[in-house]
Order: sequence, then structure tokens, then C-alpha cells
Amino acid sequence: MASWEVLGKPANILAMDRQSEFHERIGGDNLAALWVARRGMDLTRPASPAEPVIWPYDEIRCHLIEAGDLVSAGEAFRRVLVLENPAFKGRMQATNTLYAGLQLVLPGETAPCHRHSQTAIRFVIEGAGGYTAVDGERIPLSRGDFVITPNWTWHDHGNRGDAPVIWLDVLDTPLVGFLDTVFRENYPKPLHPIIRNEGETRARYGAGMIPVDFDPSQNPLPLTHYPYAESRAALTAMADSAPPDPTHGLKMQYTNPATGAPATPTMAAFLQHLPKGFIGQSYRSTESTVVCVAEGRGRSTIDGVSLEWGPGDVFVVPGWLRHRHEAEDEAVLFSVSDRPVQQALGLWREERHGGGANL
Ligand SMILES: [Fe+2]
Repeated sequence: MASWEVLGKPANILAMDRQSEFHERIGGDNLAALWVARRGMDLTRPASPAEPVIWPYDEIRCHLIEAGDLVSAGEAFRRVLVLENPAFKGRMQATNTLYAGLQLVLPGETAPCHRHSQTAIRFVIEGAGGYTAVDGERIPLSRGDFVITPNWTWHDHGNRGDAPVIWLDVLDTPLVGFLDTVFRENYPKPLHPIIRNEGETRARYGAGMIPVDFDPSQNPLPLTHYPYAESRAALTAMADSAPPDPTHGLKMQYTNPATGAPATPTMAAFLQHLPKGFIGQSYRSTESTVVCVAEGRGRSTIDGVSLEWGPGDVFVVPGWLRHRHEAEDEAVLFSVSDRPVQQALGLWREERHGGGANL
């Protein structure tokens, strides 16, 4: 190169040329310059790509019933419509860490037995007569029941009633996939043999007692069924005796009865009562949340997006977005979040704001 060409370029342009050539060259060695990768990024706060989004139950139900005509539960293995956040199109994610779907089991159907390393949470939206069997014990499902399928437990589903049964599934699938810890196995027969009586597990672990010498390390999630009748009655009793929290109303967390820990190691579950006319204060936390409306009507404003909701609707509150809930009628919200993982790692944060401003 002639010296005048070099001398003809300003020094800063020459430096940029050298940098660009350097960045390109090291890319061939599987290296990247941190000062380039971080350029323009705001690293001062979380910025989840997940969007606030709602799935109205009436619409999903129509699609599910149509799917019931098109494919059997056995053929589909699980007849589920996945609730996909627009930010994760094609990736079967409601949030960055949570999968959500609505599952339909028609009268007389069974869904085959399998197990996997993801933990599943069910919340029954419609129907009676359904059941899920976990490691050979059938758990009857009624509307509003919260049921856990601990990871690596055999499970199949069925419907012994005469009407469709629909429930919300929430799994830690994206998180387990991120960690490269996905395992799955089909049971050699369609259904696991029944080896325990219905209600046996609830009797042993759900009556405020646990067996003497119980070892949580051998049975990390002993209780898998939290009937709505009991949870709702608890909310009613408390709502009558204490004023609601200005942000959450009356929000209770389901717990592992043996340890007091969240319902599962990766996902926490909550039931929340909002009195009629409640207008919650603005709030945000780092957890990402899937909410299902158990009762009532209202709206949630999330980062300026207003979502009107009613019974059976499911919506997403992404992490670190300011939001607040309002209830037209007396309302009950069921929700699932990844808070236990964040807390175990010392990462969880929350922020309360007075009033409804800054949304
Ligand atoms: Fe499963």
C-alpha cells in the first residue's frame, strides 16, 4: 500500500478498519470481542423479550373442542393447545422459563402413561370426573384443583365423567431444556397399574401431619393434590378477617407440607383473592408468571398494556414489568412463577410502588 493512502485516511478511520478486521479474524477462532457484543445494550435492568399476552378461555375452548373431533387423546398422546407467547413463536414457551398449555380429555378417554424430567403443574378449569394418576395413584380432579406431577414420576390421565375436562398445564420445560437436562420415557403399557387407593397420599401428607421419621430427601414432593374447596375456603375465611394487601389483595402460596418450601423446586404456585372493586398498587418482580383466572372479572395493566380477564382466561406477566390488578367482581387468581429458582440462586427481586402510576 502506498504510504500516501495510509496518510490520507484520518487516524480514527484507520483504527476502525483495523478493529473491524480484527473482530472478523478472531471470529474464525470462535472468539468474540466483549466490547462489541455489549455495545448498545442496557445492562442495568432485566429486559425479557416475553410479552404481556392473554388467551381468552372461550376462544381456546372452541379450538380445543374442535381438536377433540380431529384427534383422540391416545393418538395425540396429550391433546394440548400450547399457549405460545408471540415473543417465542414456534418455541412452545409462555415465558422465558415456563411452558403453558390447555389440555382436553373427553369422557371415556385416557392419555398414555409416561414420565419426564420436567415438573408439571395442573389447574382444573372445567369439568368433573377427570383424574390424573401419579405413580399408580389416581387423583380425582374438580374445578379449581391444583395438582403436581413431580419430575420423573409416571403419570397418565383419564376422564370417567360425562363431560369434557379441561385443565391448564404449566411446566418448567424451557428451564429444564436450557440446562440440557431433558429426559423422557414411555411406560410399556398405556396405563400404570393402580398401586394405591385414591386419597391415600392426601391422607398421609395433606392433613397437617406427616409420618414420623419422614425423610424429604426420599420423597421431595409428598403432596400432589390441593383441592380447590379447601384452598378457597381458606381464602374466604381470611378475606373476611383482614384487610387486603394494597398490591396483592390476599395472596397465598401453596407449600410442600413436609418442608414449608414452595410447591415445587422450580415453580411456585399461588392463589390470590381480590375483593370486588379492588385496585392494586403498581408492582414488579423478577419472576415470570402465568396467571389463570379462577373466578371473577377484572383487568391487569402490564407495562401499559391493559388485559381484560374473566373465568378461565390465562395471561402472562413477564419478569420486571410493572403491573397491577383490578377486580370488577370478587375475583380469585391462580398463578405459577419461577420464583423458587430465582430465590435459590439469590437473584429474586421485587419492587413496590405506591398508587397505580408509572405503568
Ligand atoms: Fe407428561
